[in-house]
Amino acid sequence: MEYFHHEVRDGVLHCENVPVENIARKLGTPTYVYSRRILERHFALLRDAFDQVETLVCYSVKSLPNLAVCQVLREMGAGFDVVSGGELFRALQAGAHPRKIVFAGVGKSAEDIEYALDSRILMFNVESEPELRKIDLLARMKGVRADVALRINPDVDPHTHRHITTGKKETKFGIDLLAAERLARETPSLAGVRLIGVHAHIGSQITETAPYTEALEKTLEFAGRCRDAGNPVEWVNIGGGFGIDYVKDEALPASSYAEVLQPLISRAGYRLAIEPGRFIVGNAGILLTSVLYVKETGDRRFVILDAGMNDLLRPALYGARHAIWPARCDVEMGSAEAEAVCTPADIVGPVCETADCFARDLPFPPVREGDLLAIFSAGAYGMAMASNYNGRPRPAEVLVSGDYFDVIRMRETWDDLIRGERKVARWD
Ligand SMILES: Cc1ncc(COP(=O)(O)O)c(C=O)c1O
Repeated sequence: MEYFHHEVRDGVLHCENVPVENIARKLGTPTYVYSRRILERHFALLRDAFDQVETLVCYSVKSLPNLAVCQVLREMGAGFDVVSGGELFRALQAGAHPRKIVFAGVGKSAEDIEYALDSRILMFNVESEPELRKIDLLARMKGVRADVALRINPDVDPHTHRHITTGKKETKFGIDLLAAERLARETPSLAGVRLIGVHAHIGSQITETAPYTEALEKTLEFAGRCRDAGNPVEWVNIGGGFGIDYVKDEALPASSYAEVLQPLISRAGYRLAIEPGRFIVGNAGILLTSVLYVKETGDRRFVILDAGMNDLLRPALYGARHAIWPARCDVEMGSAEAEAVCTPADIVGPVCETADCFARDLPFPPVREGDLLAIFSAGAYGMAMASNYNGRPRPAEVLVSGDYFDVIRMRETWDDLIRGERKVARWD
């Protein structure tokens, strides 16, 4: 039996060959656990699906930035999609080849841009006219020419949560087509930039192909106009956004996207870049957490966990749903037997916010203080968004490879919470 790509053997949840309770016993909870096999498999699925055109898979660092994860993907040939100088630093520390790094983000600072110019990255995904002018100026001051793509806003609805929709015209991302075309007519005369690509990332957790096709058609048409204006455009970048399974089977196989997108790209004769994050790491990660208390009050059963919204923000931020189940349980999640023993529970964290709730009225089996639970599909935008809110050290991270696991980030301590802070001198 498998839950979200993780095997259950005799009622005991495993990550690859390791019973997850062994990890919790050794390291405590909350702890993020990632499967190397799953993340490698998902990277390979995408890479192999897009084998009909020359494709650079740029792993989106923001989804799970841990160095070891970046290193594993780099070893498989991944490039990187970064959105800040900090992410660029991280990718380079993981051994990334600079010519496989693309740099997006609506607010690149001069410091970010100079660092990327000095690092000789593959290209900037430019998100506004003033940003293009700043890159042009900084590059000329350094006596170099920056390779850039224009990130267009194709005004396509990806049918996902509004907070992770990025390609509609009312969002802050990219440049509208009219303005982009005006810029593309000017770029051949700018000495500090060379327009070599067109980029569009329309959103995240997309589980249909039609929005991609619509966005790609607009992107290709625009890329053609850029070429006509004298720009040496060779790359089309369709961003990331490929959806995964959270509480039900909703993900499309990588091949579904490839089947509709590749013929369009190959006909037009471009190299393709994609920027997947969630698809690679989402299902590879679980968050292990222990039950602190079970509180029965009024007509409600609250299962209070030692993981909170500071550890996994998505449910509080987007109303995102994750499957949750005990790491050792005699009944199978979703089965008729489970239905017989489950009663509704609110699965909540310890943070002082009502929004600190992972699931409301979730049919859940009886659990007791100390029981270990797994929150599934937590690899993407989990640890990446963790904070110290409520004075809570961030979790440890573990990478499982077959029979072994490595601690790839230590659990923070209370000392870490005040590191870098200074008390003020008395002045009364
Ligand atoms: C420009 C860009 N590319 C790629 C991604 C990765 O998206 P996903 O994790 O859904 O694949 C994002 C996510 O926000 C993004 O903003």
